[in-house]
Amino acid sequence: MADEIRTVGVVGLGTMGAGIAEVFARSGLPVTALEIDDAALSRGRDTLRASTDRAVRKGKLTAEQAAQILDRITFTTDYAAMSGADLVVEAAPERMAIKRAVFTELDRVCPAHAILATNTSSLSVTEIAHQTTRPHRVVGMHFFNPAPVMKLVEVISTVVADRDAADTVVALCRRLGKTPVAVGDRPGFVANYLLLGYLNQAAWMVSDGYVSPADLDTAMHDGAGLPMGPLTLMDLIGLDTIVEILDVIHTYGGGSRRHACAPLLRQLVAAGRYGRKSGHGFFPYPKAGSGALADADPAAEPSATVPGTVAVLGDPAAAAALAGAGVTVRELSDVDKSALAGVDLVVVGAGADAATYAALGAATDAVLAIDSATEPLAAAGAASGQPGAVVGLHLVGELVEIARTVGTDDAAVAAARGLAEALGRRAIVVDERAGLVVEALLVPYLNDAIGMLASGYADADGIDHAMTLGCGYPEGPIAAVDRLGPAAVLAAARALHAESGEPSRAPSPLLAQLVAAGRGARG
Ligand SMILES: NC(=O)c1ccc[n+]([C@@H]2O[C@H](COP(=O)([O-])OP(=O)(O)OC[C@H]3O[C@@H](n4cnc5c(N)ncnc54)[C@H](O)[C@@H]3O)[C@@H](O)[C@H]2O)c1
Repeated sequence: MADEIRTVGVVGLGTMGAGIAEVFARSGLPVTALEIDDAALSRGRDTLRASTDRAVRKGKLTAEQAAQILDRITFTTDYAAMSGADLVVEAAPERMAIKRAVFTELDRVCPAHAILATNTSSLSVTEIAHQTTRPHRVVGMHFFNPAPVMKLVEVISTVVADRDAADTVVALCRRLGKTPVAVGDRPGFVANYLLLGYLNQAAWMVSDGYVSPADLDTAMHDGAGLPMGPLTLMDLIGLDTIVEILDVIHTYGGGSRRHACAPLLRQLVAAGRYGRKSGHGFFPYPKAGSGALADADPAAEPSATVPGTVAVLGDPAAAAALAGAGVTVRELSDVDKSALAGVDLVVVGAGADAATYAALGAATDAVLAIDSATEPLAAAGAASGQPGAVVGLHLVGELVEIARTVGTDDAAVAAARGLAEALGRRAIVVDERAGLVVEALLVPYLNDAIGMLASGYADADGIDHAMTLGCGYPEGPIAAVDRLGPAAVLAAARALHAESGEPSRAPSPLLAQLVAAGRGARG
């Protein structure tokens, strides 16, 4: 098992390889580190030294430990130096021709028992394995950036790999202090497949002109509680890298719309707007001192009018949130004309029927603000007989999503904005669409994760670890489905699928099964 691995090799000492060599050396393993030429070797050595120096400055390593780590690494440009390795991890550029050349060399020099691993993010491990005469000893070992910090390693086995090759690598990962997730060979594995589908859909939303980049990121930060909005995250990763990975997943992963690259992403890359590294992507990143980061597009929406008296019908959570924010709330159990006297805005919980809207429209001129991301708002407006007064007001996380129908008046939007202000939350204003922004981005991602679980590709812990440890999500998608309830996720997934007709949005049958069985994804 892992103790069979006594000496290791790393090929390519760029962003990933230098970090991987450091991880091995930190755990006490002797490492042979190979680069393509002397100049690259010297850059790799500098990267490693800079990283250990940083750790010393931060007090995470003593100077002596840092020196020992560097002493364990032998730097070379000669493949013959790999002849004693039990495991070699390749971290050369993401091009099949380069991987092919590297694996042919490794196969030639490494001992027959050696495991050859690739750190590829998206290429086929099976195809790489077949560049060698030992495909059964080739696996994927997918570290995350920065490798010394990130705990996740996806360990990929192929249909021809020896079981014990993957098991040995899994055990080694644990010895390195990492959390391995064992999966099969599919484009994007777990983390990139799920993450890129979500990121790409966010890019489509902006590409379609549905929401501004700033509002979209605000929505996912405040509404979904993510540490960073998807566009900011793409700018950080690099839009060129995003497009490359999407293209591979789309080509080899079944060609669904989820991973069909949004036109805007390609246009930004064509314009040299790669993200943070080029100074401009979705957002500009001015150099220090040359001005502040551009903020939200100035909203052309009517300004907020704080409503005086607010009634709430069938929405205890909204009533509690408003009362908690100091708003005077009149909670109604049914449509009562006298109780609605003097009310400026009525928050209506999800699930009210046409008769209720008709009764509300007859009883009051107040704004009718519907707290839902998936209810048909325009239909409610028609039923009320006051289409101008109906607006969506979806309270999600720390965000308010305000949705206009084709008939909503500016005054209704202004009142909804006022309520958001009274709640002390940021608001975005969009047109009516199933899921608005937060659920439209989150639910298909949760559905993809449930689909992955249903297919047996990865287990619940593996999927959740991939997203929390690999992508920094505060919660894994399987845990999120159980927290929200499979019934709520299924209902939203159905609404999204019904609106788009998009096959890749079809709810996973497992969701319906969980609802029928009255249980969560973890039992
Ligand atoms: N950067 C990331 O965030 C990240 C995360 C996970 C996985 N990966 C994967 O890791 C691999 C490396 O990515 P990276 O970002 O470190 O790339 P990089 O460009 O930073 O580093 C690649 C290194 O390989 C060297 N190299 C080029 N040709 C070579 C050859 N024929 N033989 C040996 N070395 C060669 C280069 O000199 C360079 O130092 C890719 O497969 C990538 O998909 C990258």
